[in-house]
Amino acid sequence: MARLAFISLLALVASAIAQPRTCGSTPSAQTVLAAETHFQGLLAANSTQAHALATLGTLVAPVIPVYFHVIRANTSLAGGNVPASQLQAQIDVLNADYEGSGISFTNAGADFTTNSAWFNSVGPDSSSQTTMKRQLRKGGANALNVYTVGFVSGSGAGLLGYSTFPSSYSGNPTDDGVVMLYSSVPGGTAANYDEGRTLTHEAGHWVGLYHTFQGGCSGSGDSVSDTPAEASPAYECPTGRDTCSATGVDPIHNFMDYTYDSCMNQFTAGQISRMKSQITAYRGITF
Ligand SMILES: *[C@@H]1O[C@H](CO)[C@@H](O)[C@H](O)[C@H]1NC(C)=O
Ligand SMILES: *[C@@H]1O[C@H](CO)[C@@H](O)[C@H](O)[C@H]1NC(C)=O
Ligand SMILES: [Zn+2]
Repeated sequence: MARLAFISLLALVASAIAQPRTCGSTPSAQTVLAAETHFQGLLAANSTQAHALATLGTLVAPVIPVYFHVIRANTSLAGGNVPASQLQAQIDVLNADYEGSGISFTNAGADFTTNSAWFNSVGPDSSSQTTMKRQLRKGGANALNVYTVGFVSGSGAGLLGYSTFPSSYSGNPTDDGVVMLYSSVPGGTAANYDEGRTLTHEAGHWVGLYHTFQGGCSGSGDSVSDTPAEASPAYECPTGRDTCSATGVDPIHNFMDYTYDSCMNQFTAGQISRMKSQITAYRGITF
């Protein structure tokens, strides 16, 4: 009796605390510097298209096929069995959020794998995610592979998602893609993160964007000039937050911050320009 009461109290506390957004795509300053040096070199030589042709063979249109890989512990909703209707709703959210970017997404289908070890613990750099991606990844450099999982334990515990960046495709094509929490799809059960913005954010990394708080207040930040610098991630929806002395309040409504789904609604012109040149350079996608 006492034990039961204790357990239900714990459950109550856990659901009452607002879980912060956490994303596993947090490259070090050194990694960003190396990637930016390579990217700027391509742009300076104006060899972006030549590079894409040389490394990828062909150039393709900016309609990105999305392959869903639903990893489930069992065939119940709580076990990660995402319904097809929610996957399609997720594509619709992506298309609405990237409207005006020139990039669009199409549902290339879903496969379903029952594997509770993967559902529970495919964190960044885990050997289970390498095995999972080797078995399931589909398509070429222009294909967005999305693995929906539970992030219950291990290095991924509590994450909403993580993604690879375009520049890492050629060195490790099989690793390319997004791993995200199954219940973050539109209509899912992740409180405050159930409108599909987790995939909008992770796809942002997949097309070459960093977090708006990358690098903090100093240096070149997220390598985009029209996103005001931000000292640290913003959570929930803190209107008026201003953490750096440089001009501009924090970009809390930007898809690349850590705020609630309901708080996010924009990519800037600079981000759109960057995503296009990143995926032309590294994914062979033309506009
Ligand atoms: C750079 O490359 C683009 C795309 O191929 C081309 O349209 C543009 O004219 C080039 N610019 C220069 C300065 O060569
Ligand atoms: C399915 O998996 C979920 C998550 O591990 C678990 O909470 C639930 O009890 C399981 N349901 C069944 C019917 O096994
Ligand atoms: Zn992120």
